[in-house]
Amino acid sequence: MTKAALSSPTWSTQTAFILAAIGSAVGLGNLWKFPYITGENGGGAFVLVYLACILLIGLPVLIAEISMGRRGRGSPPETMSRLAKESGASKLWWLLGVNGMLAGILILSFYTVIAGWGMAYFVDSVSGDFIDMDAKGAASHFSALMGSPETLLLWHSVVMLFTIVVISKGVKSGIEKAISFMMPALFVVLIVLLGYAFFTPGFGQSLAFLFEPDFSKLTGESVLIAMGHAFFTLSIGMGTMMVYGAYVSEKYSVVKASIWIAVVDTLVALIAGIVIFSIVFTNGLEPGSGPGLLFQTLPVAFGQMTGGWFFGSLFFGLVVLAALSSAISLIEPTVRWCESRWSIPRTKAAWLIGGLTWLIGLATIASFNIASNIHLFGDKTFFGSIDFLTANIMLPLGGLLMAVFFGWIMSKESVQKELGLSVYWLRLFNWVLKFVTPVAVSIVFVSNII
Ligand code: PHE
Repeated sequence: MTKAALSSPTWSTQTAFILAAIGSAVGLGNLWKFPYITGENGGGAFVLVYLACILLIGLPVLIAEISMGRRGRGSPPETMSRLAKESGASKLWWLLGVNGMLAGILILSFYTVIAGWGMAYFVDSVSGDFIDMDAKGAASHFSALMGSPETLLLWHSVVMLFTIVVISKGVKSGIEKAISFMMPALFVVLIVLLGYAFFTPGFGQSLAFLFEPDFSKLTGESVLIAMGHAFFTLSIGMGTMMVYGAYVSEKYSVVKASIWIAVVDTLVALIAGIVIFSIVFTNGLEPGSGPGLLFQTLPVAFGQMTGGWFFGSLFFGLVVLAALSSAISLIEPTVRWCESRWSIPRTKAAWLIGGLTWLIGLATIASFNIASNIHLFGDKTFFGSIDFLTANIMLPLGGLLMAVFFGWIMSKESVQKELGLSVYWLRLFNWVLKFVTPVAVSIVFVSNII
């Protein structure tokens, strides 16, 4: 065993690991991105494709990625090198880890900007700005924020600073503790909001929009987006789960943990969707209004419900915390790599990588105002392009290669040892991971290129 493997940190319990992984998975992807891309892609049919992607692609890759991390016990490039050596495969597999680290940095560069919106809204909510707010007021509140690069810069910097400070302290003491109360609290607030939504006139229409599939609204690109989002929301394909897996003890069941992560993540997204679309339809708003959806709907609910000031502040506070626990996990693979591969002290690595990511984030800020007419891919702004490149290309590609490695290259004995499944379940899992997952990802890719 190498020195790095010996000094690798470990989660204190199986529950601590599951919570940290849920903390990574549940974030802006669930509360902000899922509702708005569902709105843009027509609702029910998109949700159905998304759920199928979680089950047939997301869950198997999640299991494979955590297992590979636990076996390799390093940062993603190191883990891949070790596993490739053990399996007699090409050395080049370490590049899969590099693809992941790059994707993580690119995602984080816009993630902190959006989390910054959450922070701005938290402060606004505490100051009572949302009291009695109507749909029009909420829309202009949001455009005012987008039109102010200085404010966006301020909050982007604050979130990045938070991320750097927490990650410097190491994974275990900081993340484990924070998450054990944050996630339950987020769940409680979501249930309260669901209760509020239930009594709004738009509730039935919201359910119909989300759960009655109309396949005529589905395009090739929507399927690609649904698949990309399955990777994004489960934090897979880029090494986060690999590095979290590296800290998992041999005693724990990776399969059980993965099922928990996938189920909780999906529930949070669906509840967020139900709540947001109830408010959308009650107030005659546009479901396809894009990235601002969450921020233009919830203030209306909080402005009108009893105790809205309290719940609004709590909700946006939790959005920030949920985003933070994901942000940390986005930077961890690279920080861990600097630490274990290049012996750079953790704090220094966190500042270095965080600083670089902060710089890239400036382009995302500009893409909402001064550079909103600059397009990179097709008609996509800088933010839109980075989001597309990472979620729809880099993560699925990373996940596809992970499925191929785990399914086809790693020895049967190693796979069986990591999974500890009975013969039948193992056979089913292998079949899905070796055939269904890679074929599905490839079909979606190829049909989009054509
Ligand atoms: N899963 C996180 C979310 O849904 C985002 C994320 C992606 C985090 C990839 C880590 C790695 O918000």
